[in-house]
Amino acid sequence: MLIYNNENFIINNEFAKNVENGLADNPKHISPKFFYDKIGSKLFEEICDQPEYYLNRIEAQILKKSASQIIDILDEKAISIIELGNGNSQKTRILLRPFLANWKNVSYFPIDVSLKMLKKSIRDLSREYSNLRIFGVCSDYVKGLIKINEFMKSKRNIPDKRLIIFLGSSIGNFDPKEANAFLHSLSKYISNDDALLIGFDLEKDKSILEKAYNDKKGITSQFNLNVLSRINKELDGGFELSSFEHKSFYNLREHRIEMHLESKLDQKVSIGAIGKEFHFKEGETIHTENSYKYSKNRLYGLVKNAGLQVIANFTDPKNQYSLILLKKIPYASKS
Ligand code: AVI
Repeated sequence: MLIYNNENFIINNEFAKNVENGLADNPKHISPKFFYDKIGSKLFEEICDQPEYYLNRIEAQILKKSASQIIDILDEKAISIIELGNGNSQKTRILLRPFLANWKNVSYFPIDVSLKMLKKSIRDLSREYSNLRIFGVCSDYVKGLIKINEFMKSKRNIPDKRLIIFLGSSIGNFDPKEANAFLHSLSKYISNDDALLIGFDLEKDKSILEKAYNDKKGITSQFNLNVLSRINKELDGGFELSSFEHKSFYNLREHRIEMHLESKLDQKVSIGAIGKEFHFKEGETIHTENSYKYSKNRLYGLVKNAGLQVIANFTDPKNQYSLILLKKIPYASKS
């Protein structure tokens, strides 16, 4: 069942504004959150299957290994799992299965900005798990969490104990300031009994990182360029996709993969819905995404700054990826 739908607001208001402001800026940029229309979400799923893109595979392995420990740590008989940005809930199943096997009362609240994806995963999961209660929320994360808090207050028989999960290293797409603000706002809307499970991609060899964002099949390139098709379709844009090129590299100083779309020539592109024309010099780029990679120290500093403490840190044998279980630092909730 869908308990909240804010999709139209998100699409109509934010996309045009973000493109208008971002392309007028110097350097030009567009937020990565606009990658995920139907095609973009499919392409992202394909990226996750590419041999070079290790993130999801390693996270799934860690989840499989650590699920029973997470269950032991939480030590309750009933739970509400809230997932921020569930996508197709593929990895969520790795957690749901042992939770459902151990506990009778499990509720699942997926929050996603894509109504289509959300409806599909609610449908699929309901078919697969007859004993799972699912309450979908179409919204951005913090607003979705607020809506769930309101909903839970008004309903009985929904477990109070909550595990909020944010997988896939999506936190890496926020810059450190945004990540800090985001964790702060999560920590504001969770209780001392709630736990958070967050996936972080860790710093590693530059060549491994750059391969992951420049797969041989060119799926990441299609994914990046798709944002221009979206502008063409939804905002009456005039981008010629073949005159832009996907560029992706590791910025060592900023600890992040950067994705850009580089203009191959001097050109002007008009966007009807905005009523403006934008000029691109040859070699000029639109910065479309950052994907931050963390050292253990920076990761622990980030969560501590947001009033959270690490309860457990699950990693793979090569320390490529970290799945951390967090709780609120009790005194931090008073300030
Ligand atoms: C969703 N996010 C964590 C992905 C990442 O690795 O930053 C998005 C992505 N961009 C290119 N490939 C994958």
